[in-house]
Amino acid sequence: MSLSALPAQAVPAARWRPAEPPAGPAIVLLDQTQLPHREVELACTDVGMLVAAIQRLAVRGAPLLGVVGGYGVALAAARAGGHEPTLRAEAARLADARPTAVNLGWAVRRVLAAALAAPAGGRAAAAVAEAHALAAQDAAASAAMATHGLALVPEDARVLTHCNTGRLVSAGAGTAFAVVDAAHRHGRLAHLWVDETRPLLQGGRLTAYEAAGAGMPHSVLADGAAGSLFAAGAVDLVVVGADRIAADGSVANKVGTYPLAVLAHHHGVPFVVVAPTSTLDLATAAGADIVVEQRAAAEVTAYAGVPVCPAGSAAYNPAFDVTPPQLLTALVTEVGVAQPVNHESVAALVALSIAACSR
Ligand code: MRU
Repeated sequence: MSLSALPAQAVPAARWRPAEPPAGPAIVLLDQTQLPHREVELACTDVGMLVAAIQRLAVRGAPLLGVVGGYGVALAAARAGGHEPTLRAEAARLADARPTAVNLGWAVRRVLAAALAAPAGGRAAAAVAEAHALAAQDAAASAAMATHGLALVPEDARVLTHCNTGRLVSAGAGTAFAVVDAAHRHGRLAHLWVDETRPLLQGGRLTAYEAAGAGMPHSVLADGAAGSLFAAGAVDLVVVGADRIAADGSVANKVGTYPLAVLAHHHGVPFVVVAPTSTLDLATAAGADIVVEQRAAAEVTAYAGVPVCPAGSAAYNPAFDVTPPQLLTALVTEVGVAQPVNHESVAALVALSIAACSR
């Protein structure tokens, strides 16, 4: 079986729906806030709807944010009839919808440039074509990352992962979860430990849904239980994704990733980050320069909409944390693996990716 072949998901995480006059085009999302209980599609027919969906995490995960950001520019181009000032303003709205996942702004700029390079009447078609190309590249990157990452998974591996990184975050098989899935299909996965990922439970709701769909042996744990799992010697490998990787190799990923990296280091367990090169951001020099999204207090002080803290309690709710490169064993991308992860190896991956694009 090919590494990129996964069981069919009933509803894709995101798709472009061309115009069917009198209806205009739409981006159709699988609403992730409804998972795992219901697969509900959400059709975004303008940029405002898409921005709202991004901000309430109906669609999420760095690579998929890039894919839908690209389609968002196509939607704006279709609605604005190629009018440049409107297109630029809509692109800026999209790029600013979430600040940490670098793929979003990267994809928006790429598709905007393709649209603006075309004559006004052809901008919508040019944007759609570029967004489709970007989605296809993301799917291909998933398959390549799975192949590279599989080499780092030992036999009978008990793997711990955090947040959600599979087909729900990509046009393909995903990032870290694509590696786990490859290990499963090659008989190397003994067990997947799924951090529930507080406060919004991307692990418990979404990764467990993907693991169950793929028939993987898995257990969900409260984030705070990871320490005892390491202490018991029950983790052979940690595999996570990334939202932005700075030039020095610092990794911004879902909050709770950094404590896992510290635990892995303490217990001598390999800690591997899997991300496409579109997540590498040479314009951000170091981890301290990464803008970390702060989210609403209610995500922490309430559970499934029901308040659990005393009225008036404040909350600390960063969406991401930053793991320094010294704690990483390897960084897996579609063009190869950096090991160790540092300024030089990150720059080398970017150079490889530029060379691959120009071939
Ligand atoms: O806030 P989210 O759910 O968008 O955060 C997503 C993550 O942190 C993922 O681990 C990350 O995007 C890596 S790969 C999908």
